[in-house]
Order: sequence, then structure tokens, then C-alpha cells
Amino acid sequence: MVAVDKGFVNNMFSVEGKAVLVTGATGALGSVLSKAYGYAGAKVFMTGRNKEKLQALKDEFCAEGIDCDFFAADPAIEDDVKATVKACVEKYGEINVLAVCHGCNKPQNVLDQSVEDWQAIMDADCRSVYIVTKYVAEQMVAQGKGGKMVVVTSQRSKRGMAGYTGYCTSKGGVDLMVNCLACDLTAKYHINVNSLCPTVFRSDLTEWMFDPDSQVYKNFLVREPVGRLAEPNDFVGYALFLSSAASDYITGANCDCSGGYLVV
Ligand SMILES: NC(=O)c1ccc[n+]([C@@H]2O[C@H](COP(=O)([O-])OP(=O)(O)OC[C@H]3O[C@@H](n4cnc5c(N)ncnc54)[C@H](OP(=O)(O)O)[C@@H]3O)[C@@H](O)[C@H]2O)c1
Repeated sequence: MVAVDKGFVNNMFSVEGKAVLVTGATGALGSVLSKAYGYAGAKVFMTGRNKEKLQALKDEFCAEGIDCDFFAADPAIEDDVKATVKACVEKYGEINVLAVCHGCNKPQNVLDQSVEDWQAIMDADCRSVYIVTKYVAEQMVAQGKGGKMVVVTSQRSKRGMAGYTGYCTSKGGVDLMVNCLACDLTAKYHINVNSLCPTVFRSDLTEWMFDPDSQVYKNFLVREPVGRLAEPNDFVGYALFLSSAASDYITGANCDCSGGYLVV
């Protein structure tokens, strides 16, 4: 007999019934992933600093029958993160999946940048991920059922760029953090930790790059074998895969989802 389980194959991509905590849920990718998890039957607990945006997302998703709630918090503040984990567990009893989607950038040449500005990026993009993954890991270990963490970084974690000493350093640090978290958490606690590394996708901050007639867009396409820049929707499949049983043997991976950016 060929050893593949039919029930497993038919259900391996399911996240139905899972409690998913999404950070940066108010952002371009975080909001799309939150809704996508909801459409896939998960219970979605959203967090971000902007309470009004979180409430608007909850209203929109609830109107579509998605089971969701939110807690406004800053992912770089330890007490905020502890309170977020507590609120999620109070609402859904557990956390099965963590999707880290928050982040920011303030590009500046190193000669113009203050140490404080650099540190602010490192706190928002790197320290915050340590705090969020640490406290969610503690919760998942206490539950004793394993879990999945999907951390959005960037292909800028692997490549330098002018003005990006804060962003590239923090994204590169988080990709390595993911490698280490996998070593700490997967074999012993069955918590898989992976990062998604996109190139440019559409958001309020990047919309200006999407004019197909602009030189900026044309320059990007030279490095994009897929032939276009990305939409947040392009990452839904990968995020659901890394949140499901189908990816049980994948951990510590910095997953390329760049439209082929690295092959040119
Ligand atoms: N868009 C791209 O082209 C692109 C490319 C590669 C990688 N990425 C990465 O992908 C992730 C999602 O990007 P996105 O384009 O969806 O971002 P976005 O639309 O700008 O949203 C990110 C969210 O992060 C939160 N945030 C912003 N500044 C923060 C800070 N200083 N501290 C803590 N939270 C902060 C904000 O939520 P609140 O204000 O509610 O806290 C915001 O809604 C980020 O990690 C980004 O670096 C983006």
C-alpha cells in the first residue's frame, strides 16, 4: 500500500476553527490576511495601535460572518503584548497561529540619520517581533498543542539599499530570529516559525510605485520575472499554507515570495 493518508491530503491546508492572532492588522497586508483567515474559517484576533481602524475592520468582517475581535496595542511595548495575548486567550481560549504583519520604515542616509531614528526602526521592526513571538510562544507552549508563526519580513532582509540601515538590518535580524526561534520551538514544542519575504506590494505607502508608465515601475520589472509588482492578495496562499498542517515539515525558513526577484 502507498503510505499517504487520504484524510490528511484532503484537509491539510485547513485553518478552520484555529485562533489566529494578526499584528499590523490595520495595514495593507495585515487586513487582507485577517480577512482571508476569516474566509478560511479561522477565528481572527486583530491587533495594531489604531483602535478606530481595528473597529472598522471588525465591523466589516463581522458583517460577512467572520468571527473576529481586536485589541489595540503597540507590538514594541512588552506590557501591551502581554495584554494582547491575554485578551486573545480570553476571547478564543487559545492562540494557534500568529501572523506578524506590522512594520514601518523611515529611509535616511546614515550620515543624516540620528541614532534615535535608527533605534526607532529597530524597535518597531525587530524588537517588537521578539516580544510578540516570545509571549505567543509562551502561550502556545502552555497550551501543549504546537502552533504556527508566520512573520512577514522583506527581501530587503537579504539585500542592502541606500537609506535602509534601519529597515534592512531589522528585517535581516528578524529572518535570523526566525531561524533561532525554529531551533528553540519546533522539535520540542511543535511550533513552526517561518518568515515570508516579499518585494514591493501595493499599500498606501507604495501606491506611487505602481504607475506602469513610470521609470520606477519599469526599473522594478527588470528584476521581477513574474512581470508585475505584487498585491497583498498574492501572499494569502503562502500565509495559509504556512499556517496549516501542509507545512508541518517547514520551519526556520525565510520564504521567498518576491516574484523571482532573486533569480535575475
Ligand atoms: N508594502 C511593501 O511593499 C512591503 C514590501 C516588503 C515587506 N513589507 C513588510 O510587510 C509588512 C506589512 O507591510 P504593509 O505594506 O502591509 O504595511 P502597512 O500597510 O504600512 O501597515 C503596517 C502596519 O504596521 C503598523 N505600524 C506602522 N508603524 C508602526 C510602528 N512604528 N510600530 C508598530 N507598528 C507599526 C501599522 O498599524 P497601527 O498603526 O494600527 O499600529 C500599520 O497598519 C511590514 O512588515 C513591511 O515592512 C512591505
